[in-house]
This record gives sequence, C-alpha cells and structure tokens, in this order.
Amino acid sequence: MKERIYLDNSATTPVDAAVLEAMLPALGDIFGNASSIHLFGQEARTVVEEARGAVALLIGADTREVVFTSGGTESDNWALWGVLRGGRRPGNHVVTTRIEHPAVLATCEAMEKAGADVTPVPVDASGRVDPGAVAAAVREETVLISVMHSNNETGIVQPVAEIAEIARKRGVPLHTDAVQSAGKIPVDVRELGVDLLSLSAHKIHGPKGVGALWIRKGTPIAPFLTGGAQERRRRAGTENVPAIAGFGVAARLAAERLPEMGGRVAALRDRFEQGALERIAGGRVNGLGPRLPNITNLSFERLEGEAAVIALDLEGVAASTGSACSSGSLEPSHVLRGMGLRPEVVQGSLRFSLSRQNTEEEIDRALDILGKVVGRLRTLSRGSRG
Ligand SMILES: Cc1ncc(COP(=O)(O)O)c(C=O)c1O
Repeated sequence: MKERIYLDNSATTPVDAAVLEAMLPALGDIFGNASSIHLFGQEARTVVEEARGAVALLIGADTREVVFTSGGTESDNWALWGVLRGGRRPGNHVVTTRIEHPAVLATCEAMEKAGADVTPVPVDASGRVDPGAVAAAVREETVLISVMHSNNETGIVQPVAEIAEIARKRGVPLHTDAVQSAGKIPVDVRELGVDLLSLSAHKIHGPKGVGALWIRKGTPIAPFLTGGAQERRRRAGTENVPAIAGFGVAARLAAERLPEMGGRVAALRDRFEQGALERIAGGRVNGLGPRLPNITNLSFERLEGEAAVIALDLEGVAASTGSACSSGSLEPSHVLRGMGLRPEVVQGSLRFSLSRQNTEEEIDRALDILGKVVGRLRTLSRGSRG
C-alpha cells in the first residue's frame, strides 16, 4: 500500500518535530517541580513561563490570564462549573447552543442534574447561531453563556464577537470553546470580547493531554481542581512540564503559520471539496458561511458515512463522520441534526480535516480513492436491495 493519507486533523494532529524536540529535555534533565525554590525547580518554571507567553501571544492575551489544564475537555468543564459555582451573579441559568462539543454539552447535562437550568439555543440550516436567539434566551438568572468559536464537525465559525456585545450589555460572562479555531484562524480575546476561552494543544501539532483556559482578569470563577497553590491558586496539581513545553512551541509555530492555513491549506481543502463534488454525483457541503480553512463536511446521497470511513481506511485514507468522540458510538451527528438536515443527509456525511502537513499529491490521491469507494459502496447497496 502507498503511504497513508491523514485527513482527520480535527480529531488530532501529528506532533510537530520541533514540538517533540522541545519536550525531550523536560522529560530528561529538566525534571524539577516548577514550584520548587531550587535551581531544578527554577529551570522547570522557566520552561512553563516561556510556554505561557507563547500561548498568550497566540490569542492576544495577557500572560497572567492563561492557566494550563489537561486539555480542552478540562478547560470547558472548568469554565462551566467554575462560573456556575463561583460567579458573582445570583442564579443558575446557563445559555449554550445545540452544536457544542460534548465537553460542553455533557457538562451542561451534569449541571442540570445538579440543579442548574440550561437553555441550548438552536442553529439555522447553515450551522450558525443567531445572536438574537442568544439574547432572547438570556434571563435575570443567567450566570453564563457558552458558545463555541467554531464547530469541530463543520468548521462553521460562530458570531462570537456579536454575542459578546449582548453578554456585556446584560452583564453575563461569556465562555467560548476555541479548541478548533486557535491556530487555524486569528483568535484575539480582546477583539472577541469574551471572558473565558478554551484551548487544546493536540489540535495544533502539540501533545495530547494539555490545554489552557484563558480567564479575563477579574472574572469570578471557582477552582475546578483543589489542592496545591499551582497556577496562582487557580488550578491545583504539579504542572505537566514536558506537555506544557510542547504546547508552547506548538502555539508559537501555529501563530507564525496562520497565513499558511488561510492560504495553502484553505486552497487544498477547496481543491478536495470541489474535486469531490465534481467527481461524485449527489454530493453537498454541510454548513454555509465563514468556516475554518481546513475542514469540509460533505454528504453523499445513497451513502452510509460509517461504511465509507471504514472503506476509506482500508484504502489508506483516514477521515471521520462527525467528531471523533461520537464516531465510535454510531450516534448520528447532533451537529448536523441540529442544523435540521434530513436523516439520510446526516447518515451520508463525512468529515475531512486537513493540516499544513498535507500535500496536493495526497489530496488528488484521496479524491481518486474517495470516488472509487463511494462508487463501490453505492453498487453494493443497490445490489443488496435488489
Ligand atoms: C471543539 C472541541 N472542544 C473540546 C475538545 C476536547 O479537547 P481535548 O481533546 O483536548 O480534551 C475538542 C476535541 O475534539 C473539540 O473539538
């Protein structure tokens, strides 16, 4: 078999060689506890603070507002529970959307079980949230709004800055999950006007199991993990120095490479998308409007998405149906259903997500394979019905 082609970069990305190189010393000689006073500790502290600076720069933040976590899931959990428990506003009402990542949606369900009241705002057929609908959902008792910056299945970018204006007028803190956006499109916390923002390293060629929550200075939030005084008493636990070192380099490289995402990677995505629609009859793009440069979500008539992912994998192309988390469960995508798409369109959907490591040659080869796979599966399903 020829080299495999990885088009599932929204699930995770390969670790960049420079990231790996930066992590190795922190797994070796620089083993100190970043909280220790001695030189071993100071060396580890320097690594952590350099990384914090790079992450802050990626999102236009003040360094002191960046808190390292174990990843996007913890950042989302912390933002939601932390503001619900530690916020200044009285009440227990949270506004979110129907298309959030499970890290937000399942947390909302858990909060409801604990007595909170959650309003998940719908999206339109294009996959966008209407800021007016968010405004209408906000009440006196609303303590938090959480709207993702971009969707992990469709890549559709949400009107977060507009929602931030509404949140500010109503005095409600706004959290955004920017796990898929950071490093793909410009994300600037000041321009956005949000109060909390989640990040994850492994979506930008960093290591897994590390992320950050950006918390605007003065935003009241209870700690999620209690224990030691790490991270200015906001997140207890000895820092994962090797992972943080890798995150720092990944963030720096992502900031430097932003123009490449909007240029070469977007062009590769468009080449793939247009090529797929030209070659294969009965195809459509799911999601309309501003979107990330590296994702395309396509549906094909008379195709079963799960079967196609397996057949593509056998031919050496890695893709997915919806998010990595739901793809194992055979649950139809809550995002596409939330957009009101017909069940057969949801069933026939495939997500292809690119990175800067993909080449034109790979895209053309993946197109050939996709055409072949869809043709074969359609013939099979016709045969089984007849
Ligand atoms: C939008 C979004 N939020 C949160 C997460 C969870 O991040 P992590 O894998 O770092 O826990 C993901 C990962 O798939 C994601 O796409």
